[in-house]
Amino acid sequence: MAKRNKAASLPQASIADSVAFATQVALPTWSKGLIVRRPGAVALAERARLDERAVRQMQALRRKYGDGPLLLRLPVRNQAIVLGTEHVRRVLDESPEPFATASSEKRAALSHFEPKNALVSQGAKRAERRQFNERALEAERPVHRQTGHFARIVAEEAERLMANVAPAGELGWDDFVASWGRIVRRVIFGDGAADDTALSDMMTSLRSRANWAFLAPKDRTMRARFHQRVQDHLDRAESGSLAETIARTPQEPETAPSHQVAQWLFAFGPAGMATARALVLLASHRAAEARARDEAADRAATEKLDLPFLRATILESLRLWPTTPAVLRQTTRDTQWDAGTMPAGTGVFIYAPFFHRDDENLPFAHRFEPDIWLNPQRQGDWPLIPFSGGPAICPARNLVPTVGSLMLAELLSASGFELVQPDTLHPDHPLPGTLDNFALRFRLRETASPRDATG
Ligand code: HEM
Repeated sequence: MAKRNKAASLPQASIADSVAFATQVALPTWSKGLIVRRPGAVALAERARLDERAVRQMQALRRKYGDGPLLLRLPVRNQAIVLGTEHVRRVLDESPEPFATASSEKRAALSHFEPKNALVSQGAKRAERRQFNERALEAERPVHRQTGHFARIVAEEAERLMANVAPAGELGWDDFVASWGRIVRRVIFGDGAADDTALSDMMTSLRSRANWAFLAPKDRTMRARFHQRVQDHLDRAESGSLAETIARTPQEPETAPSHQVAQWLFAFGPAGMATARALVLLASHRAAEARARDEAADRAATEKLDLPFLRATILESLRLWPTTPAVLRQTTRDTQWDAGTMPAGTGVFIYAPFFHRDDENLPFAHRFEPDIWLNPQRQGDWPLIPFSGGPAICPARNLVPTVGSLMLAELLSASGFELVQPDTLHPDHPLPGTLDNFALRFRLRETASPRDATG
């Protein structure tokens, strides 16, 4: 690596390019909702192809300024964007010091519902809370020890879902998400929370405020009620649930379990989106659907819990449509780069879709290519980071594909799915930059002959 240039400041974008980044990348990302998606803005992004434009804007910045990191000219504070692949690795590997996860905007947003979460904590408190999350979610295990129980929950809820939608012959987003919500509450808290939609509604309301970060006043009363309700569910420590694992996990005075679990409830929402979009990918790619059906049939026969192809489909759904598009950091001290110095207190913005959909470097950028997750050498060193990376990587990076793949297996075992909305996907055409989950609709069909199909 070239010697790092300590004296010079990093390259700085012109005012016009800073405005272009703010309006074409940051604003659409923020408008869709960073904490809870706004359906109208997601629909607009799909129609106007805003995510595709954002990636092209990032490519133009890289062509003009090189690998950066690039400082923007913004009135508020120092803000850098990451354009080079090895810089992505560096920022993630060197989190949380000197690249703190607790950036100002993240603290402002998450303090609406989980001010003591690991993501927005620092120092000893962060270390303690991170360790609690890793242990309770069994971050390092490909399959969590409670997965046998989770699989039974998923099977029951999928059966109930399919029974509900069978008369109409169609599965839409609202049906799917209601079923997913029951799965999430049962997985985290046990059957006693299955019908607690009020808890999920409170979460949605707090998340809607969090979308506005500094700009919305906090509803401290609702936040306190929400945490009390989470704690009441945790206190039951129901057998088979994550609450039971929590009861066995060591805690220290600053662990604040309900603030960690708030993130779980929140983040299982995007996991539902990723699962529904994975079903879209299978419904529009018949050869992959046949592989998925084989795996689902195998699971039905053997009860195996690890489903590599379906897991890869979930990961691919997250590569194509990352649910955490903006990975944000803030520097705790000056950092040195080949191109110059980044001052302490600089916000660092990694835009995941730029790396996931970079058609100037990735031959599969806009294709459904689940095999890249089965053969990681095909990714090389390229940063595909749906769960971020390094020491602050999502501790549910295994749990999310586990639960999602079990759901896909149940749905595929129960029915065939024909896409009604969107009606434009084709295996030979580039996949769109946005896939509006709220508009998804599938027609149920007989499952006779996916093996014969191609595509
Ligand atoms: C589609 C589903 C999910 C995706 C794509 C995802 C992605 C991510 C990403 C990118 C981060 C890092 C954020 C940052 O650095 O700013 C993160 C952090 C985290 N995620 Fe997830 N996540 C998902 C679901 C979940 C679920 C279901 C849970 C818990 C059950 C969870 C627990 C956490 C926690 C506790 C952190 C904070 C880690 C830390 O700061 O050390 N996530 N997730």
